[in-house]
Amino acid sequence: MLVDPFLSGNPLAPVGPDDLTPDYICVSHGHGDHVGDTVQMAKRTGATVISNFEIHNWLAAQGVSNLHPQHIGGGFNYPWGRVKLTIAHHGSGLPDGSYGGNPCGFLFYVENRKIYHACDTGLFYDMKLIGEEGIDLAILPIGDNFTMGPEDGLRAVRLIAPRQALPIHYNTFDVIRQDAAAWKQRVERETDTQVALLKPGETLQLP
Ligand code: NI
Repeated sequence: MLVDPFLSGNPLAPVGPDDLTPDYICVSHGHGDHVGDTVQMAKRTGATVISNFEIHNWLAAQGVSNLHPQHIGGGFNYPWGRVKLTIAHHGSGLPDGSYGGNPCGFLFYVENRKIYHACDTGLFYDMKLIGEEGIDLAILPIGDNFTMGPEDGLRAVRLIAPRQALPIHYNTFDVIRQDAAAWKQRVERETDTQVALLKPGETLQLP
């Protein structure tokens, strides 16, 4: 599964859209650096694309045929696990200016693990509700400028109290440059959450 496959034109991506063969692609919102290569990859692989209903309609108009629309607060049981869409505070306009509905984050329930991918969002207090689910891994933006920065990322960790956090959405461009190692030190000093840092192309195995 891929979430927001921004590979073409991504200065940090170690692979291109032809290097991966996903079964599923999740699209959190309409911005070009998140829809990314979804249309091309879905057409090539036949992957099922999970998104909100408005992006679903836009992808259908682009000729993508395997689509599963959901919407915020709604979950669905796929053969391998459950996906629920959460709120996110952001925009969702599509690359051609089409209406992309409301942006979302994703809650994945897979093999007795709960993974919260916040996607692009500012801090919101309802992250506390998401934390009540008992999150194993919270994937949180810390880039600032377009999303939460390091300070609000730390507050998000406090609200969610996940076992592990993985910072994302930083260093792709100068305007979102951050010191992730410093964030890890601070989060681990001030909370009970462990922080995993990944370079592009690296993997994380959950305990
Ligand atoms: Ni965005």
